[in-house]
Amino acid sequence: MKNNDIKLISNGKRLDGRAPNEMRSMKIVPNVVKNSGGSAYMEWGKNKIIAAVYGPGEALPRHTANPDRAVIKCRYMMAPFSSSEEHGRVGMNRRAIEISKVTAEVFENIVLLDQFPGTEINIYIEVLQSDGGTRAAGITCASVAMALSGIPMKDLPYAVSVGKVGEDVILDLDKLEDNYSDADVPLAILPRTDSVALLQMDGEMTKKQFNDAMAMAMEAGKTISKLQKDALRSQYIEQEQKYR
Ligand code: CDP
Repeated sequence: MKNNDIKLISNGKRLDGRAPNEMRSMKIVPNVVKNSGGSAYMEWGKNKIIAAVYGPGEALPRHTANPDRAVIKCRYMMAPFSSSEEHGRVGMNRRAIEISKVTAEVFENIVLLDQFPGTEINIYIEVLQSDGGTRAAGITCASVAMALSGIPMKDLPYAVSVGKVGEDVILDLDKLEDNYSDADVPLAILPRTDSVALLQMDGEMTKKQFNDAMAMAMEAGKTISKLQKDALRSQYIEQEQKYR
């Protein structure tokens, strides 16, 4: 949606006071769902999200199983009370199906699937409160949940969105920016190789703007990755203290 009446940047500041390359604050709380293999709760700006991972277990229904490798199934869902917009009341909508699909694809490329033939791994992402960037927050949070579940991965992916307002490239779009910006690009990145695991794009950017946006995302990734690793590390320190 484009709307020239809404001024998303004035005097170099965004509506919430952030600089163009500034992320919203975030925190990750590990292992919040006791029955899951691994889980995490994440706050990213006003987004509040829980991710939980189950499996590997028997793939059901059976015809969904692959005898050579595990299959990843993801269900991303927004709680009906998660935002002011009307959604969630009738279960999965088209958007939730899309986000579930792209999230599963991110993990299909990272999890060592051939170690678990014939099984399924389930990722559940529940959005309790939303304010733009929930797919990025969901992937970032699910990445921690997957690692906590002990399922081997090639890397610990993080995700963030970048975009454009007028000629300015911006990082981590909130809902208003997502709705009214000139471009938004959710990205998931594998930090060990800086390779891209997800790239969606709404709007247009010049090559230079795109390169600047990628650089911004990767710089932000250092902060996000550190937060993910700190959340994982805190669990091992806690376990160690318990059994000492
Ligand atoms: O959350 P994300 O930016 O990944 O997805 P989006 O489809 O670009 O949606 C942007 C934001 O609009 C969401 O984070 C929600 O805050 C809001 N939204 C909503 O409240 N209800 C919907 N049915 C769709 C989006």
